[in-house]
Amino acid sequence: MPACLICAAPVGDFISFGRMPIANGFLMPADFDREFFFELKTGYCERCHMVQLTELVDPSKMFHDHYAYFSSISVRMAQHFASFAGMVRERYVTAADPFVVEVGSNDGIMLQHFATAGLRHLGVEPSANVAAAARASGVRTVCRFFDEEAGHEIRKEYGAADAFLGANVICHIPDMHTLIKGVRALLKDDGVFVFEEPYLGDIVSKASYDQIYDEHVYYFSLQSLTPLLAQHEMEVIDVLPQTTHGGSMRYVVAKRGARPVADGVAALRERERAMGLMLPATYQELRRRIEKSRDDLVSLLKELRAAGKRVTGYGATSKSTTVTNYCGIGSDLVEFISDTTPGKQGRYSPGTHIPVVPYDRFVERYPDYAVLFAWNHGDEIVAKEQAFRKAGGQFISYVPNVHVMA
Ligand code: SAH
Ligand code: TYD
Repeated sequence: MPACLICAAPVGDFISFGRMPIANGFLMPADFDREFFFELKTGYCERCHMVQLTELVDPSKMFHDHYAYFSSISVRMAQHFASFAGMVRERYVTAADPFVVEVGSNDGIMLQHFATAGLRHLGVEPSANVAAAARASGVRTVCRFFDEEAGHEIRKEYGAADAFLGANVICHIPDMHTLIKGVRALLKDDGVFVFEEPYLGDIVSKASYDQIYDEHVYYFSLQSLTPLLAQHEMEVIDVLPQTTHGGSMRYVVAKRGARPVADGVAALRERERAMGLMLPATYQELRRRIEKSRDDLVSLLKELRAAGKRVTGYGATSKSTTVTNYCGIGSDLVEFISDTTPGKQGRYSPGTHIPVVPYDRFVERYPDYAVLFAWNHGDEIVAKEQAFRKAGGQFISYVPNVHVMA
């Protein structure tokens, strides 16, 4: 059995999704026969409660100079990060001449708000193409992976940080101990580490298994973060649930005893206990629900095809790579996936090679059904696709179960 990445206890898998390509590895036909695959499988550590991947992909295969995900594609996410930055400034960045660091700052979607306010800031972003986009919009960015050494080096060059931020990136970093040591080294004594990631409680309650893919090494809960942070003399001082990415949790972390702990922390700990997040049986049950979701989706798509309906995909998300590969959905069931990201258009989906086309193709000739692979942006998408629905089109979702959306 593999060893837990956090506490080294043996960790068994509760599910395998089988052979899986790189989730964001949208590719051209010339590369089909050298596509990289690994086995996507997930385990729950009964000792420290961390849900994690049990086979890892080398980060350099995922984060590089042609990383496909540009954060600023969604208007709602842009608003979300404006508000995240506002909250940090208001509550935590109150000292004179503050310094804010963000890991996984991508195209600068959040740090731009510190940059335009004239505050000292630094993005740490290893994917060169998105880092270049951030710099072009005036966000100071270094192109590297963040680790303990980076924490020390940044402190030496710029001084200690008031806030260390991360969104949808902390769960990508396999060596959490090195990361936290780096954060500790860089933060002022009363500095805060604020990060938000897809929340295990949402994944379990919605069976949103598509959050599980190569980049997401960990599926955090308060219960699993607490002992990990304690080892490094840090603690969670606040928890703020978010609706982004299908349900996320924002954790505010400080050096132990440096700041008061909000009541919401104990309340969340109780909710997690009530949900059974610390019970192995919860994950066996989750596996059964995931298998049912797969079977239902495949049956529905086959039925629609047999009835001569046109079905396309909406949003070439990383998440869709898990769904299409686990369910065996190719262009026989989903004609194409439309997406607004230029770098994904004209390419093919990882593993099952469904064409990814510009959004215009969806509008030019509406399909009968569109699988909402970007279900986490459902409100935004449904609101702007009134014409599709007026033309008789319907969205299919698979969260929290497979259904045609009313
Ligand atoms: N924070 C943005 C981007 C999330 S995507 C948002 O929420 O939209 C994850 C980003 O983290 C990618 O841009 C990736 O290149 C970066 N990343 C991955 N590993 C990292 C590491 N060790 N240090 C810093 N950034 C990392
Ligand atoms: P997202 O769900 O944020 O991420 P992940 O890759 O982490 O699963 O990705 C959204 C994708 O959906 C992105 O490729 C852009 C696309 N998209 C559209 O095509 N149209 C839209 O209206 C929105 C909101 C997203």
